[in-house]
Amino acid sequence: MSDEPTDIVFSALHRMQANGVRLRASLDTCEGLRVTASAAGTAPRTPARTASPATALGAQPETRRASTPAPRIELPPASEGKSTQSVPSNSTAFASAKAAQLDALRGPVLACTKCPQLVQSRTQVVFGVGNPDAEVMFVGEAPGADEDLVGEPFVGRAGQMLTKMITAMNLRRADVYIANILKCRPHMPPGESGNRKPEPAEMNVCKPYLLRQIEIIQPKVIVALGATAVEGLLGIKNAGITKMRGTWKEFHGIPMMPTYHPAYLLHNQSHTEKRKVWEDLMAVLERLGDEITAKQRGYFLTK
Ligand code: URA
Repeated sequence: MSDEPTDIVFSALHRMQANGVRLRASLDTCEGLRVTASAAGTAPRTPARTASPATALGAQPETRRASTPAPRIELPPASEGKSTQSVPSNSTAFASAKAAQLDALRGPVLACTKCPQLVQSRTQVVFGVGNPDAEVMFVGEAPGADEDLVGEPFVGRAGQMLTKMITAMNLRRADVYIANILKCRPHMPPGESGNRKPEPAEMNVCKPYLLRQIEIIQPKVIVALGATAVEGLLGIKNAGITKMRGTWKEFHGIPMMPTYHPAYLLHNQSHTEKRKVWEDLMAVLERLGDEITAKQRGYFLTK
């Protein structure tokens, strides 16, 4: 056995268990979490604090960020058994516990049949993607045709714009979590193509899944993308996104920043509109305590 800190902890836990101390998570459970962590690619992360001097909406950050271990998330219940494998560090254990909880939720969501029409028309359910331990969670309205095919939120043109927004924040898609209120593509009337907005009733049926995702991830900030997402999250009508964007709201105790939907920026490519969204995202970075470089502060300022 090596004298790695994890091995020392593991052997201490082993001795405690041998002496009759009942551990909340068994050694096997810890090993299971370690395996889940490596399978889910949730290696230990370092918070990104310095923005790289990269091009606006095209930056390639070098570091990943994750939230600090969240005390509300508990390890899965104890089971019997012994192992001589090493135990993960605390933050990895919390992150992998979140990954395991998201995995447990994924099954029922993918098998959901609550909206018979959407079940008929969908190719697949779009669960959500990203870092289970993310500090920032982006919430959109519903999958479109591209997302329905790929099974991942925001992979179409609007998704590419969202990726640019995330990159400008000096983050990567893998650092944040991305999900929609509605997990199935809203079906289109026969003979019609394109995407439609989800109905409030559809969002209400699906919202508990998003709530559970948020409860597991415990992001520090939620970014609500567009009026429909704001309406769905807050349960209001006519959000008036023009007025609401840029002003902090709260969703289940979590600070929420409403901003324009990335699709809006595809149709309104002016620096003025991009700057508005960028100011909302800078407010998010400030809330997280991240450094914003002078170059970042200047993005989309009209000369
Ligand atoms: N628009 C959304 O709101 N969500 C997606 O996943 C794609 C486009």
